[in-house]
Amino acid sequence: MTKLERANEYQEQNRIAEGERPVFHVTPPTGWMNDPNGFSIYQGNIHLFYQYHPYSDIWGPMHWGHYISEDFVKWKELPVALAPDRDFDSGGCFSGSAIETKDGQAVIYTGVMERIREDGTKEITQNQCLAIGDGVRYEKVENNPVIMSDMLPKGFSREDFRDPKIWEEDGTYYLVVASQNKDRNGQVLLFQSENLKHWEYISVLADNREIYGKMWECPDFFALGTRHVLVVSPMDMQADGKEFHNGNQSMAMIGCYDRQEHQLKEEQVVSLDYGIDFYAPQTLLTEDGRRIMIAWMQSWDMNIKPVEQKWNGMMTIPRQLALKDGVLYQNPVEELIKYRVEPVVCKEQSISGSVRVPGVKGRVMDLTLELVDGDYEAFTIYFAKNERYFVSFRYVRATGTIEFDRTYSGMIRDAVCQRTMNIKKMDKKLKLRLILDKFSVELFVNDGVQTFTSTFYTPLDADDIVLECDKTAVVNIEKYGLRLD
Ligand code: FRU
Repeated sequence: MTKLERANEYQEQNRIAEGERPVFHVTPPTGWMNDPNGFSIYQGNIHLFYQYHPYSDIWGPMHWGHYISEDFVKWKELPVALAPDRDFDSGGCFSGSAIETKDGQAVIYTGVMERIREDGTKEITQNQCLAIGDGVRYEKVENNPVIMSDMLPKGFSREDFRDPKIWEEDGTYYLVVASQNKDRNGQVLLFQSENLKHWEYISVLADNREIYGKMWECPDFFALGTRHVLVVSPMDMQADGKEFHNGNQSMAMIGCYDRQEHQLKEEQVVSLDYGIDFYAPQTLLTEDGRRIMIAWMQSWDMNIKPVEQKWNGMMTIPRQLALKDGVLYQNPVEELIKYRVEPVVCKEQSISGSVRVPGVKGRVMDLTLELVDGDYEAFTIYFAKNERYFVSFRYVRATGTIEFDRTYSGMIRDAVCQRTMNIKKMDKKLKLRLILDKFSVELFVNDGVQTFTSTFYTPLDADDIVLECDKTAVVNIEKYGLRLD
């Protein structure tokens, strides 16, 4: 039996009941999931591959799992697409991307090659490999790897050279890939090809300027509005004020693409998410021109799932990106709206003390609170709550901050539970949209100017929602359940 057949058989025999997993956030059928890979459209369908280790709930030799969707919300599982079964990827099929071509769906990924040197030490190299498929099954091409790390300029790391993201422009293929320079600083390299098999190194598109972490992972590069955006996930990031508090952090460099020099002239750098669980995002462009981003809703720093839970890792809800007047907006894909059920809409509700709003309860919902007026100093929303547990967001007016707290989410480890973010752009009103799906919250602040994503594995019967205010807040409330069947 091949490694791929074995992985598929294992997945088949060990699939975890859907009821034990979130409703509309992608999770592995069994075992471990990290980065989204190959997020792309092929023959009109949305494909999402991911870093997958089916055999245990911790990271191990990387396979590519596979889902397909018509609308970013309802996903169908497909067979495991890649297994680490060749010399050039024996150390794992690491992250990469996919593109539709006239010969089928091309996936380009990092093959990790491990070799024992004569002196017994291990040599690891990372190279970029190609496979072509029909949307379900993939053949690794002959002459892999198609980009060898020895094509790199002198001094660039051969061991840290990974996560290619491909696109096509005027008949030429391009890709960005993460690497380290001779001083071990993260950078993104640009390559081009006419046929996917022969690639040419072009330039260093951008680097960390010794500010933004060390090694960079999972780059993505695209036009948005009048600018270009480079999304990267730096490792070993230093916090700066209330920015960049995850050791592994994701950020966007926004600027102008100098096509002569093949460099991004950066104008601003923004955190992509202020929560604890967000990493390695990847985007696609829909046929109607929307740039959609999905990320691993977890990070390397913090792994808090209960030991008895046999799946590990989820994806965020896909988010639509927009750049308006220099502000990067992220909002849940509009397709989510068609799954809304049981609306509760209250206009200008006065909240004083602790209030349970009739009909606003549960662990799976799309809830928007708009604080329109009031003399309050702090306003808190508690969710996943019962007498014993809660998770909360607290808005403190004087400091213009939102404080998150999952200390009482049932965790039995001394993990990061609290995080504060400064609210960026604030008109008079504060708008908070929470997407809840059993074990996660994604908060979209002021129509997506900032987001805060976090997981919590509180027992599911803790499903109260309580609004709390020290004086009086006038709040517009809009709550919908979300149901896929
Ligand atoms: C990011 C990452 C990638 C790598 C993959 C391995 O989370 O470290 O750089 O390709 O995960 O699973």
